[in-house]
Amino acid sequence: MSEIDEGKYIWKNGQLVAWAEATTHVLTHALHYGTAVFEGIRCYQTVHGSAVFRLRDHLKRMERSARMIGMELGYSVDELMAATFETIRVNELKECYVRPIAYRGYGAVGVNPRSAPVDVAIIVWPWGAYLGAEALEKGIAAGISSWRQRSVNAIPGAVKSSASYLNSGLAKMEALDHGYGEAILLTESGLVAEGSGENIFVVRDGVIATPPLADGVLAGLTRASIIQIARDMGYTVLEQSLVRSDLYIADEVFFTGTAAELTPVASVDGRQIGLPGPVTSALQTRFFDVVNGRVPEYDAWLDRV
Ligand SMILES: Cc1ncc(COP(=O)(O)O)c(C=O)c1O
Repeated sequence: MSEIDEGKYIWKNGQLVAWAEATTHVLTHALHYGTAVFEGIRCYQTVHGSAVFRLRDHLKRMERSARMIGMELGYSVDELMAATFETIRVNELKECYVRPIAYRGYGAVGVNPRSAPVDVAIIVWPWGAYLGAEALEKGIAAGISSWRQRSVNAIPGAVKSSASYLNSGLAKMEALDHGYGEAILLTESGLVAEGSGENIFVVRDGVIATPPLADGVLAGLTRASIIQIARDMGYTVLEQSLVRSDLYIADEVFFTGTAAELTPVASVDGRQIGLPGPVTSALQTRFFDVVNGRVPEYDAWLDRV
């Protein structure tokens, strides 16, 4: 049984292979030790045709993640961009999610990853609103997790590694079990970090704030885009540490991420924040205009298929 909307081809190590044949051995190093880095990217059907939002920036982040864990991708960003476009085209998709992954493959056992080969794949498939279409409109109920965000000296937030997502998965399961739609993780010292798969922003008295990267959050490309879009719209955006009470007394809270896009947070731990507020709504509208190619100033963010 699969929940996945399967495509036709997957790009793997330089070749297009049939979807069902893009398999890997059960002794793949990454499966045992979490030695993989990946990206989550969206291709939108813009007013000028299909374009991948900040593809180059995502692939550069993957290159940095790989470097951080001592892995050579073996393909340049330009080569991976071309491979992504080709994969979207052969799957005949106008709009999709894009998942490049690089992992230590089959060929070595034991914790030291260095003698295992590096495999690289790019998978594309149609994927709608990650937190649900209703959440985009009405907001999502979030709960603060009892799990803490992995520390920067354990698994750095700058690395988008498979290993990090065990932490995210624990928080997500707990949130769902408690009746929330998403988790918010705090750092070990009690600062607000991020959602299980999103960065977080608060709005108070018209000022927008989000935790700084030094608090161990992923350097989200949606986060960076929203910071720039908001500043361009005239808002003040602060990158500053936040504590739990900043969420409870915020006028507005929202999540950003490639999967979640810009999703308002309706409540935190059952405390109502309110309907998507004016700042969240204005930013969400602008964000969708940008990714759909309706704002020429941000054209450079759209990598055309
Ligand atoms: C833990 C975490 N934080 C933040 C983000 C948002 O990053 P981006 O906007 O680059 O998708 C993600 C998305 O993958 C994530 O998994």
